[in-house]
Amino acid sequence: MGRAFAYVILGGGVAAGYAALEFSRRGVAAGELCIISDESVAPYERPALSKGYLLPEAPARLPFFHTCVGTNDERLTPKWYKEHGIELVLGTKVTSADVRRKTLITATGETISYKILIIATGARALKLEEFGVKGSDAENVCYLRNLDDANRLVNVMQSCAGGNAVVIGGGYIGMECTAALVTNRIKVTMVFPEKHCMFRLFTPKIAEFYENYYKSKGVNFIKGTVLSSFENDSTGKVMAVILRDGTRLPTDMVVVGIGIRANTALFEGQLTLEKGGIKVNGRMQTSNSSVYAVGDVAAFPVKLFDNDIRRLEHVDSARKTARHTVAAIMAPAKTTNLDYLPFFYSRVFSLSWQFYGDNVGEVVHFGDFSSGKFGSYWVDKGRVVGAFLEGGGREDYETITKAVRNKAVVKDLGELGRKGLDFAFLE
Ligand code: FDA
Ligand code: NAD
Repeated sequence: MGRAFAYVILGGGVAAGYAALEFSRRGVAAGELCIISDESVAPYERPALSKGYLLPEAPARLPFFHTCVGTNDERLTPKWYKEHGIELVLGTKVTSADVRRKTLITATGETISYKILIIATGARALKLEEFGVKGSDAENVCYLRNLDDANRLVNVMQSCAGGNAVVIGGGYIGMECTAALVTNRIKVTMVFPEKHCMFRLFTPKIAEFYENYYKSKGVNFIKGTVLSSFENDSTGKVMAVILRDGTRLPTDMVVVGIGIRANTALFEGQLTLEKGGIKVNGRMQTSNSSVYAVGDVAAFPVKLFDNDIRRLEHVDSARKTARHTVAAIMAPAKTTNLDYLPFFYSRVFSLSWQFYGDNVGEVVHFGDFSSGKFGSYWVDKGRVVGAFLEGGGREDYETITKAVRNKAVVKDLGELGRKGLDFAFLE
């Protein structure tokens, strides 16, 4: 048994949703496009899961955050796919792929063939077991990658109101879930191996601001260590987290955010891989010309960084690589290589920051850290290559974007710090 489509998108996350909208705008015919996803719902804006979804009051729920509301665009409900003749194959895992034969096989044994495949399989959360810690399948230990995880987290959180949580990991999930837990009246201890939170991006000075803010909300930080085991009660629930130095942290629940791995397994040995992802060119085309890759799973050349290959794990990149791929497929003659400016953001409590570019070179902080509007530039070879801003307005963010995009020339680092945001405005 089998079905055949001109275009198949493997994976039904953020990138798949944005690709579908682009396909429909470019005139894909009914019955030509199919999306296969092992999730049971149509593509949605994944960032909502660690923000609006976890609010104690009036939480965000589907269908309100289906793609593409994240860019104030159309909301693609299951009805939309139906009306546009796009086949949504949900709750279906693809278990093998053959790029030579142009076929995918699903867990139900169906063969789906394609002329063009877009790999949009995203990533999976790393498990503690991969670091030698056992027991993360306990009912009050939560990961957060998809809707099922988010529902589980909400249930566990509700059953722990007024209690304690240990959050493992000081990255995006750790920071955003801690803020959500505190808002839900749960007292949090964060544990992570680095010297400060958001180690991959924040400078020590920026991290200090957020850590102090979190401390003012009652959050306790234990840095420079990792957990070694869980202590469970007779029902298997985790009662305490034991750290490597022997510290015992009694807890009602645990949230784990220790990074991700891109879902490349189906294509290992068939496509070229790099930086933990599937390597593509500036048209998002893999080493097989009928296969494209987008979003978290794609490692693509960033023109602005001298075509260095990067795999980005952020929603803006998923949206833009998806749209670019569809343009490259549907209008090849009119589509040049992607020229992408990396953009990351987060919102926690009433704070909100944005970052553009690359965090390499010398750091120059600016602004008033006590007033909550501050930032930093990264300067490499006399040019701005990255910029971070907390508490800015729309115009501020647009302005620092331009400074990074144009690689503004910096003559004097001291002056750059003194001018701060004005430097970008004067550019
Ligand atoms: P995505 O993970 O969205 O989708 C992949 C899809 O493929 C999933 O539906 C998966 O189930 C499916 N799939 C995988 N293998 C399959 C198989 N074999 N068969 C069938 N289906 C398969 N970024 C940001 O910039 N700002 C933010 O605030 C946030 N916030 C945020 C919160 C949370 C909780 C998470 C988990 C992530 C974020 N992100 C983020 C990151 C952002 O969500 C992420 O970069 C995008 O979702 C990536 O989109 P993709 O479509 O590549 O993968
Ligand atoms: P991350 O890479 O941001 O952070 C991982 C953290 O895990 C590290 O900072 C470190 O503190 C910790 N860690 C690593 N090894 C550990 C170990 N052995 N024991 C304990 N801690 C360890 O990953 P994440 O926070 O898990 O986020 C997952 C994905 O979701 C990422 O791709 C991220 O970009 C995405 N996400 C993004 C946003 C956003 O952009 N606002 C929000 C949520 C999630």
